[in-house]
Amino acid sequence: MSDIAKIEVGGKTYEFPIVEGTENEHAINISKLRGASGGLITIDPGYKNTGSCISEVTFLDGEKGILRYRGYSIENLAEKADFLEVAYLLIFGELPNEEELNKFHDDIKKNSIVDDDIKKILDAFPKTAHPMGVLSSLTSALTAFNSSSVDVNSEEKMYNSIVKILGKFPVLVAWTMRKKQGLPLDYGDSSLGYVENLLKMMFKKPNEEYQNNPIITDALDKLLILHADHEQNCSTSTVRIVGSSHAGLFASISSGISALWGPLHGGANQAVLEMLAGIQEDGGDTEKYMAKAKDKSDPFRLMGFGHRVYKNFDPRAKIIKVAANEVLEDLGVEDPILDIARALEKEALEDDYFVARKLYPNVDFYSGIIYRAMGIPTEMFTVMFALGRLPGWIAQWREMRLNKEPIGRPRQIYTGKNLRPFVSVEKR
Ligand code: ACO
Repeated sequence: MSDIAKIEVGGKTYEFPIVEGTENEHAINISKLRGASGGLITIDPGYKNTGSCISEVTFLDGEKGILRYRGYSIENLAEKADFLEVAYLLIFGELPNEEELNKFHDDIKKNSIVDDDIKKILDAFPKTAHPMGVLSSLTSALTAFNSSSVDVNSEEKMYNSIVKILGKFPVLVAWTMRKKQGLPLDYGDSSLGYVENLLKMMFKKPNEEYQNNPIITDALDKLLILHADHEQNCSTSTVRIVGSSHAGLFASISSGISALWGPLHGGANQAVLEMLAGIQEDGGDTEKYMAKAKDKSDPFRLMGFGHRVYKNFDPRAKIIKVAANEVLEDLGVEDPILDIARALEKEALEDDYFVARKLYPNVDFYSGIIYRAMGIPTEMFTVMFALGRLPGWIAQWREMRLNKEPIGRPRQIYTGKNLRPFVSVEKR
């Protein structure tokens, strides 16, 4: 491929360098376009053709169904690593040796206490509040309790913010769920592993000893790894753009949580289960819902199908599908909702509409099924996704800060009214 791109406008030719990534991806670097052309910009709604940054964190090939964190395949990591190792890898670029991993875990543990006044904020939310709204607010509130976290100018301060958020976030996740269930808010046991401790904080009953179930712990560890990063998706781009104004890490993550909440993004895992429950209540006729999904006059979409970048089987969905079967078998779960999920999956994979549009089941089609089998309430599914995505958001935020990227400030083409005189109220 040539290393120069030419754009001709009004008889003038402008030349732009082609940037090449380590996996032979190419981009036209148009960063000098506006200055060189006296005002021309590009328009790309939904950023389908726009690279917002150059990144070393995650490689994704949607056509081939490839996902790698820092060069390691998602299949390898899901099989061999644990969530904290993957978090370290994503954030700092290399797998940690034993000493580095132990230090990282210790630093996280030391920072896992949440100011007790956070409970007062949690108390003020109605029980009906969606956990994603609560989590986003509490994450933002952490800034007020940790004022040094807004200093983004030293690596040391950034590290402190990183271990603080990794330590406190699981507590906020567990408390958000327990508050809704009317259970006392407490800590787990910091001698346990990160994921085991999270499960204990979520599920420990005040009047019973907590029993770890290794099948559930392993499955959750795997789910969190699979969700840990996905390059420049909606929530990650939000974290980077908020962080680009030098807002602190907690404020940037809080914005990412809000972006993740929507049903076209992380909220899809909740939407999938609600859709399956709705189909079951309506008699379980999957063909009827397949027809609705294909009917352009019907707003219904098959939740958990399709992806902005995967035009092939989502590699995470392949791994989760196997894990879901294992967990359900091991736990002896029989659930009619699963039969509906399996029927929809089979019909969609054989249906011309879905095949032609390359609409495959995505990660969220299966994750909700596992969360449900673990006893996690449907409204908490996207919260679990947020916890999984936390290392990716941190890694991308840190990269953006270390690269000293400029503030994100897109432009627009204005199509509103031209200058007009003000008309006083009695004359309108
Ligand atoms: N059900 C029915 N039709 C669909 C679906 C679906 N789930 N997804 C896409 N289509 C159709 C569209 O109607 C469109 O058809 P057309 O070409 O005839 O107009 C075509 O497929 C392309 O769809 P777009 O919306 O243009 O695809 P885009 O890349 O913008 O959207 C998205 C991807 C948002 C994920 C979409 O597939 C969707 O809404 N899926 C359901 C929600 C979901 O599962 N989201 C989770 C994504 S994964 C994640 O965030 C972790």
